[in-house]
Amino acid sequence: MKTFNFIRILALPVIALAAAPAFSDEAKLLEEARGVSSAIPPKLLNVLDEEIKKGGPEGAIGVCRDKAPAMAKAASEKSGWAIRRVSLKNRNPKAVPDAWEEAVLKEFDKRAAAGEKPTGLEKGEVVTMDGKKVYRYMKALPTQDLCLNCHGTPDRISPAVQAKLKELYPADKAVGYHAAEIRGAITIKKPL
Ligand code: HEC
Repeated sequence: MKTFNFIRILALPVIALAAAPAFSDEAKLLEEARGVSSAIPPKLLNVLDEEIKKGGPEGAIGVCRDKAPAMAKAASEKSGWAIRRVSLKNRNPKAVPDAWEEAVLKEFDKRAAAGEKPTGLEKGEVVTMDGKKVYRYMKALPTQDLCLNCHGTPDRISPAVQAKLKELYPADKAVGYHAAEIRGAITIKKPL
């Protein structure tokens, strides 16, 4: 018994040392991912706000349709991270989450239901994709009042916006939201 404990005490720091570099790498990746993912939403929100003030929500549809993917593309090229948006109730037919993203979005919903603030929901993880190690990170995109112009319940979306959305996105699932719900997430990844 005594010998066993002694070995355990000796072995513990060795295990901790061996694990330490991996932990600090992951902490660095998490920090980088936070920086990359937090750059776009505030910019997008500003443009959305401006456009809605100028031409109403109908005129601002193009912002979410063209500017958001364009900003994501530019940020991807600049940072080396692949960036996109996904949702369990997607509007863009391509914004369907893959298995990892779907599990994370469901976990976000659970954590929000358990009382966590939707604005702080994030998840970072090293995963293996097609045999290669990849760092993946997601951050929830919660709704605010402004979003409901285009993602809210029918009484919050003007008939003109409803008509345009129907025309552009016949299979639209991204309506019926209230404020402070999780609309989707920004999802980013980088090969290691
Ligand atoms: C002026 C209308 C409008 C407003 C306001 C708006 N959106 Fe959108 N949203 C859209 C459109 C249109 C798309 C589809 C874009 C595309 O084709 O990629 C979209 C797509 C998204 C997506 C990508 C996933 C999907 O379902 O395709 C997310 C996430 C999203 N919006 C979140 C938000 C949030 C959060 C807000 C508020 C901060 C917001 N949106 C405000 C119109 C809007």
